[in-house]
Amino acid sequence: MKWIEVNSYDEMSEVAADIFTKQLQVKPASILGLATGGSPVGMYKELVKRQQAGNISFNDVITFNLDEYVGLDQSSPASYWTFMHENLFNHVDIKEENIHLPNGKAENLDEECVAYDARIKEAGGIDLQLLGIGVNGHIGFNEPGTSFESLTNIVELTESTRTENAIYFDDSKDVPTHAITMGIQSIMNAKEIILIAFGEKKLEAMEKLKSGIITEDFPASQLLNHPNVTIIYGGTK
Ligand code: PGA
Repeated sequence: MKWIEVNSYDEMSEVAADIFTKQLQVKPASILGLATGGSPVGMYKELVKRQQAGNISFNDVITFNLDEYVGLDQSSPASYWTFMHENLFNHVDIKEENIHLPNGKAENLDEECVAYDARIKEAGGIDLQLLGIGVNGHIGFNEPGTSFESLTNIVELTESTRTENAIYFDDSKDVPTHAITMGIQSIMNAKEIILIAFGEKKLEAMEKLKSGIITEDFPASQLLNHPNVTIIYGGTK
C-alpha cells in the first residue's frame, strides 16, 4: 500500500487526477471504477478541465460506479446517476452506453446484483478503481461487518450513513433505507485502487488503516491485502 500525504483538498484532487490521466494515456479504452460523495468532486473537476484541454479523452472509456440507492429514479436529483452526470459525464466525451451504475429500480434486485458483477467481468474487469472512505471505514456502501467475500449486493444503510448523506436530500426522511453496492470482493478484483480522503473527520479512519489490522469490522482494511493500492490523504488544513 502506497501512502501519499497531501496538504489540501485541491492537492488531493490533482494527485488523484494525475493517476487517472496516466491511466487514460497508457490505455485509452480503460475500464474505470468510479465513486460518488464529496471526496471525488474536485478530482472530477480536474479531469473535466484536462479533457476539455485535449490532454485526455473518455471516448473509449467504460465506467462502473460503486453504488446506487434502491428505489430512486435515475433522474432524481439525489441519485448517484444524477451526481455522476452533473459532476463528470455531462462535461466529457464519454459515450452514454459506456456508463454503468447499478440499477436501484430493477424489478428483480437480486438478479441486478449478479448481472452487475457479470457486466464488469465481461468488460474485462476494472483497471483503476476510485474509492472514498466512510468515517466507519465503509467502502462503497459496505458497512462494518460486511463479508470480505461479498459481491454486488443489497444493503440496509446504517443510521450514521443515512444521516451523513441527508445533505443531498430535501428532507432527511427521504434518504433511502437501502442501496445496491459493489461488494468488497468486487472492489478487490480491480487491478489498481486509489482511495482518497481529506479532512479531520477522516483521520481516525486513516489511523486505523495504518495500524495494519485486517478485520471485517473495518471494511477498508481488506485493501491491505490488495497488491496495488494508493491512499491519497490529508488532515486538518
Ligand atoms: P465522502 O464519502 O466522499 O462524501 O466523504 C465517502 C464515503 O462515505 O464513502
